[in-house]
Amino acid sequence: MSSVFIQSIHTSNDHSRLNPHEARFRARLLFVRFLALIYLSLPRSSAYTVNDCVDMDSNNSLGLGGASPVEGVGVGGVDPPTTGFPDDPELEQEGRGWFATYNPKVKAALEVNLEHTLVHDSVVCCVRFSPDGKFLATGCNRTAQIYDTKTGEKTCVLVYESADKSDDLYIRSVCFSADGKYLATGAEDKKIRIWNIADKKIRNIFEGHQQDIYSLEFSSSDHILISGSGDKSVRIWSMHDGSSTVLTIDDADPPNTDAGVTSVALSINGRWVAAGSLDTVVRIWDVETGKLVERLTGHTDSVYSIAFTPDGKGLVSASLDETLKYWDVSGLSERPSECKMDLKSHKDFVLCVAVSNDGAWFASGSKDHSVQFWDARTGIVQCVLQGHKNTVISTDFSPTGNVLATGSGDFHARICELWEF
Ligand SMILES: *[C@@H]1O[C@H](CO)[C@@H](O)[C@H](O)[C@H]1NC(C)=O
Ligand SMILES: *[C@@H]1O[C@H](CO)[C@@H](O)[C@H](O)[C@H]1NC(C)=O
Repeated sequence: MSSVFIQSIHTSNDHSRLNPHEARFRARLLFVRFLALIYLSLPRSSAYTVNDCVDMDSNNSLGLGGASPVEGVGVGGVDPPTTGFPDDPELEQEGRGWFATYNPKVKAALEVNLEHTLVHDSVVCCVRFSPDGKFLATGCNRTAQIYDTKTGEKTCVLVYESADKSDDLYIRSVCFSADGKYLATGAEDKKIRIWNIADKKIRNIFEGHQQDIYSLEFSSSDHILISGSGDKSVRIWSMHDGSSTVLTIDDADPPNTDAGVTSVALSINGRWVAAGSLDTVVRIWDVETGKLVERLTGHTDSVYSIAFTPDGKGLVSASLDETLKYWDVSGLSERPSECKMDLKSHKDFVLCVAVSNDGAWFASGSKDHSVQFWDARTGIVQCVLQGHKNTVISTDFSPTGNVLATGSGDFHARICELWEF
């Protein structure tokens, strides 16, 4: 956008043949353009806030979300599907307060059932299953909570105590350790807390990031924890001594001055760490050497979420450019990775993506309020889930089965079960 603008500024500066009124007008116009240029060249904020994520135009946003019970609400209370699919009752699977609309162009292969709606006191910024799939952790303003995924019961609340308790402090990322005993939380206070779930006490606090922590991931052995932050870096923390290796984004010529890291992921073999950035690029480093091995370019706006496929050969990215991309990363460090599929169907920012544990489905959440299920082989939408009344900010698949969780700007988290046939 800015380059178009800059081109348009090369108009004639020859005022000699203009009448005084016109000349003044032109001078004023140039001055306004000059101010706009200065504004555009300022570095963009190196963080994105929760309010950037939620749909502020929605009447169902923020304050109202917590007040309206979703379960038991008829379909009338839900936004109509925005799939573009024809209205065919046969293709809709109707639950209480939600819709699943199926793509008529493909064979139905998935059934979705809403199991639990978990009501929170604020925007739900993040959702994450425990490695055994029995628990779901969620993060919101000043608290992280853990739910039993079978019963939907809240089993634990971890509270951020601090001097000024009246301020908003969103927990932007949560992650269970592989042994399920600890929960790491990353928040807008730039610190990572490691909680012992059994006694709700903080075991470690990792400090070093200069900006909000947006994403966390434990290695399968629990030896390391990876974090991504608005400070344009990824850190690899040793769980033994709390020391960290810093991987900083320092491209000579970044496509965008703001390279805050929104999302990190570790490949299954633990060899690669990938990071999605506000600067539109997905970068992949070698965990052992800290060397940058790949830059995946193609998105035209910030990347908010990434996930490796379980076979380690693919990576999916979700972007504010309203698309998801599937990348073949099977030849990392040997040959360049390629974008194999462009997934286009959402009507607004795509903020989150997750891959099912069998690798068959991608689920994505968007500012258009929907969750879409994509066939991982073809990149075609299988079905669209409507029900959240605001942006779907976070999503996760259970590592043990086809259960999906979503967190939304409508103050709700949801747990859905998927049946493949
Ligand atoms: C929000 O609700 C008010 C009153 O119910 C209505 O007048 C307004 O048009 C709604 N706005 C949107 C964006 O739906
Ligand atoms: C966040 O929590 C604090 C402390 O409980 C509260 O004062 C504040 O109003 C909350 N903010 C939101 C947006 O819920």
